[in-house]
Order: sequence, then C-alpha cells, then structure tokens
Amino acid sequence: ISLKPYNTFGVEANAKYFAEVHSTEELVNILKNFNAQAIPLLFLGGGSNILFTKDFDGLVILLNLKGIQEEFIDDSEVLVTAQAGENWHNFVMFCLSKNYGGLENLSLIPGNVGTSPMQNIGAYGTEIKDTFVSCKVLNISTLEVEIFDLEKCRFGYRDSIFKQEEKGKYVILEVTFKLTRENHIIKTEYGAITSELQNLGIEKPTIQDVSKAVINIRQSKLPDPKVIGNAGSFFKNPTIPLTQFEDLKAKFPNIQGYPNGNFVKVPAGWLIEQCGWKGKQIGNVASHQLQSLVIINATGNATGKEIFDFSTIIIDSVKEKFGIELEREVNMI
Ligand code: EPU
Repeated sequence: ISLKPYNTFGVEANAKYFAEVHSTEELVNILKNFNAQAIPLLFLGGGSNILFTKDFDGLVILLNLKGIQEEFIDDSEVLVTAQAGENWHNFVMFCLSKNYGGLENLSLIPGNVGTSPMQNIGAYGTEIKDTFVSCKVLNISTLEVEIFDLEKCRFGYRDSIFKQEEKGKYVILEVTFKLTRENHIIKTEYGAITSELQNLGIEKPTIQDVSKAVINIRQSKLPDPKVIGNAGSFFKNPTIPLTQFEDLKAKFPNIQGYPNGNFVKVPAGWLIEQCGWKGKQIGNVASHQLQSLVIINATGNATGKEIFDFSTIIIDSVKEKFGIELEREVNMI
C-alpha cells in the first residue's frame, strides 16, 4: 500500500502491510499476531515528522483512536484527555472553544495528539511539557497499558524518553493536559506574537487572540503541508558552548543566540540562510523561501532520498562555514 497520503512530505513509499486501528483492543489484537512473527513495525500518527527514504518492509499501523474527555478539577482548572488519533490543531481549537487555556501558543502545529509527547512539541514560548499531566501508553512487548507522568517522560527541547532509551518500546494511546478555565496565563514574550497582536490592534489579548496571532504568524511563513509537502522544521536549533558562540560572534557579528547557562541555542534557520540556502532548489527539493529551516517537496515529485540528500548538503555546508553540526529533527525511515 502506498504511504504517500500518510506523510506530510507527500513522498512515495510502500508498506508491505498496513492496518488502521480505532481502539486499544484492535491494536492489541494486531500486535498479538504480528509480534509473534517478528515483523518490523511502524506506528503512524499524522505523518508530519517523518521522512520515508525507502519502502517499509513491515507493518505500518495507523493510529486512529478518537475522542476527547474533560474532567473539571475545580472552577479554575480542568483535565482534558485526548486520544492519540485526534488532530493536534483540532484539539487545540476544541480547548479554545471551551475557553480552556494553555495550548493556544501551539495552534496550527501539524500532527496528532499521540505524537505530541514524542518530541515535546513547542512553539512561541510554550512546550507541551508546560501543561502535560500524563500519557497512557501500550508496552509493545508485554501488551500492557502503562501510565507515564511528566517526570517519567523526561521532556527536553524537542526531546523525551520516547526518543531516547524507550525508543520504539511504547505506543502512545492518549494524552492528558491540565488547562485553565479562568485566570489564563497569556504568554506573549515571543516577539513575533507581540507585534502580531499590535497589528491586530489588540491590547488585552485573550487566549483566543493569542491563538489567532500564532495562526497568522505561522501562515505567513510556514508552508501548508496540504499545499506544499514539508515536515515543519527539518533540523533542531543547535546548542553550542558559550565559548564557541563568542568565537563565532567575533567572526559573524550578526549571529543570533538564546543563552542558556554555559550554552547558547542558535537558530538553525539563520545559519542555513547565511550559507545561501534560503529559497534554493535542487531538483524537486528546496529550502523554503520564507523560513530556511523548512525543507519542502517543491514540485510534489520529490523522493525521500532526494530530500535526505538535500538535507545532507545543508548539514555539510553549515558545518564548513560555522563548525556547527546540525541535527535532523524529522524521523528518517
Ligand atoms: N531566521 C533566519 N532565517 C531563516 C529562518 C529564521 O535568519 O530562514 C532567524 C529569524 O530571523 C529569527 C530566528 O532565526 O530571529 C528564529 O526564527 P523563528 O522565530 O522562525 O523560529 P525558529 O527557531 O526558526 C522554532 C521552532 C519552530 C517554531 C518556532 C516558533 C525549532 C527547530 N523550530 O523555529 O517549530 O514554530 O521556533 O517558536 O525549534 C517545527 O518544529 O516544525 C517548527 C515550525
């Protein structure tokens, strides 16, 4: 079966076997049969952070578990639990329609709820770890359901235990967030939000206004995967030692960085742009003209291999100019 409809890059790749599950029971039943046969497994959510560089010689399981539950803690807080297959942005919109605050800065992030803890999705000054309570997961080898709380997930920048030592061992079934019902915390420290709210003429923003601002910013510079295949940021923003940053600053006075102790996080988009890649195309692949951190399937006909090779050229180029090794954020299959 073709996986083209199931990855936001829109690249062609085939799966030997394919199944779509709508409940934990269906998932467990399939795993009982396939685990025994030792066939490679791949779990797929929204397909928004994955690059197929070749066919998948195993079973792809599309997680289509749906449903949202709310449980009031008191007048000011609510626990909201969403099943893995809920589209992330629709989930954020649902919360905003109920006036639940905490996820508004994460509006319009592609993907599903079930993959949000994988890399602790984040944007505009917020990460899911700020409102995350726990997730329910299925242990693939024991087929037991387990609960991972905030501490156990070990969230970091674009990182969690599910990308580290527990990689490939669990399927996330549902995620619970603690959101506000009143006295919402409005996060507008991120410069772009402040200026967008000014553009909109809003002085006292509500959580819905913040969401609107974020949506406007994202739509103004991030390509819509439904129109141009992409997976958002292709690379992580690298963290380098302060001393290295100071050396670079002497050579490149315009370099930007967000200090964090003895380290500095440098915007990969800036590094890539400085190497001349912004908007550049090779074959079917390009770096987006408005945000060079995003690699796009420019013609719609790119292969995963082409995209991968393009990313390697960028990594080599940044390494040569700045001595910084970019790391891919997107999962390679
Ligand atoms: N920049 C450039 N050239 C570019 C792109 C960016 O010079 O082509 C500079 C900008 O001028 C700005 C800085 O880099 O000063 C940061 O840019 P931006 O605000 O666009 O954010 P980012 O660091 O490039 C990160 C996330 C995004 C997230 C934004 C907003 C990563 C890898 N990416 O991008 O996440 O939306 O911050 O918070 O951390 C994603 O993961 O798919 C994603 C889009």
